[in-house]
Amino acid sequence: MSTHTFSENLHNIRMSPIVSISEEVRKKATEYKSATGKDFILFQRGEIDFNTPQFIIDAAKRALDKGFTKYPKSGGEDIFKDAIIYKLDYSNHAKGFDRENIVCTDGGQEALELSFKLFEGKKGVGFAPCWSCVLENFVPYCATNFKQVPLEPDFSIDYDRLDKELEGAAFFYLNTPQNPTGKLFTKEEVTAIAELCLKHGAFLISDEAYEAIVFDNAKHFSPTSLEYDNIISTFTLSKSYAMTGWRLGYLVTRNKEITKILKLGNYTQTAGVTTFLQHAAAEALSNKTESEKAIANMVTEFQKRRDVFYDGLTKIEGMKVTKPAGGFYLFPNFSSFIPANLNTNDRKVYIYNLLFKEGVASVYGSCFGDYFIDNVRFSFSTTPISIIEEGLERMKTIFKRLA
Ligand SMILES: Cc1ncc(COP(=O)(O)O)c(C=O)c1O
Repeated sequence: MSTHTFSENLHNIRMSPIVSISEEVRKKATEYKSATGKDFILFQRGEIDFNTPQFIIDAAKRALDKGFTKYPKSGGEDIFKDAIIYKLDYSNHAKGFDRENIVCTDGGQEALELSFKLFEGKKGVGFAPCWSCVLENFVPYCATNFKQVPLEPDFSIDYDRLDKELEGAAFFYLNTPQNPTGKLFTKEEVTAIAELCLKHGAFLISDEAYEAIVFDNAKHFSPTSLEYDNIISTFTLSKSYAMTGWRLGYLVTRNKEITKILKLGNYTQTAGVTTFLQHAAAEALSNKTESEKAIANMVTEFQKRRDVFYDGLTKIEGMKVTKPAGGFYLFPNFSSFIPANLNTNDRKVYIYNLLFKEGVASVYGSCFGDYFIDNVRFSFSTTPISIIEEGLERMKTIFKRLA
């Protein structure tokens, strides 16, 4: 038997509870169906039920036919980077970038992991609730000393607390629109956060995975449009174009020292993003007409689902729910239904278990950090309106019983 010990950081990585929830549902679904005749309702997933738009699929096929099957250029193909520069301008109103400001990555996930890796072992700060992958994967992988600053119950910002916590921090992680709350941070909020980071000499790692999924004609405000060089913005094609399995993303910063380092980080990990897929990504970003059409089509459907879901939840007495302005999640608070005498561990899964018993899958709030443990995340990214309505019916029955 070898006496070697394995990497402590790798050992500390945990599988997101969302994955085990999905496995639990898979096991239970058949049993539930045969007992009740009803389908399990899958509100736990971050997958998308739209297909990738055909014009992007066609571009990938063309790139293959043209023989773009060799090793990619380090840090990203010119065609992809030029399309990113164009998209940053028309969509994010972010100007002044050239190819050396960009690193193309395997999804938003790699862009974020590389950004966290830059500050290995240092203090990082982020709002709670926080996307579970940050907490379970990036933080342990990069040995980040991560401090959570809770949002207020209505998801507004406690600037004093943020200011205090940023003391000595190397970076702040911001996700807008936010998973799991659906909060779209305003231009004023984003600017105030970026300036607080500047004050403390911290970088701002901005996760803009849901940038295109915004409702009621609101606009996502990208920190990249600010002319500060302490900002690293990470993007992905996964959500905007229903391309979760393609693994295409990129990071952008005005600080070229960062891209120089992260280009090597990216090369070390994967030697770059699959060449012909970069050509498809270039088409997705540069074909503005087709792209905007596909996004509008998807957002219109998500907005309808959001409206039905939100309206339904507000009709359940005792439910506290904030209307999401973006993303495809709702994050209601169930405090008034949870018995006061439960210990913390039981409290964390109380609502989740009640829902699960009635065939409704969700994600419990503690997956998103130390606060908001009385909340539960529902995703409407794979559930048509009829399923949302069925889920609401089941919830009404459960919570009427508890009221
Ligand atoms: C908040 C957030 N950021 C980033 C990502 C990364 O997405 P991908 O790696 O598919 O680009 C996700 C995916 O679910 C997410 O929820």
